[in-house]
Amino acid sequence: MATLKVTDASGECKVIEAKVGLSLMEILREAGYPVAGECNGSLACATCHVIIGEAWADKVPELTDEEEDILDTVFNLEETSRLCCQILMNDELSGLDLRIPD
Ligand code: FES
Repeated sequence: MATLKVTDASGECKVIEAKVGLSLMEILREAGYPVAGECNGSLACATCHVIIGEAWADKVPELTDEEEDILDTVFNLEETSRLCCQILMNDELSGLDLRIPD
């Protein structure tokens, strides 16, 4: 089983199981994290914003123009910000760390 290392908005860090084939958004929601994902992955809301750990930023699939447009609407954007509905879990991403912003 693949894993994700998740730091929540309060700074608490946990390693959770991550089912290959699900989006990071689905994995976080199933684990009980408050990731709204209001548009359910159709690139219309940015409520699935997370910050990918720097060591993993170039290992996740590249940002598309569509994702970048929506990310630009996020007020607390960081260098490695991504929309987690757009990243599908695979074995190569096991161990990825991410942070859920405030
Ligand atoms: S869930 Fe809406 S953009 Fe990701």
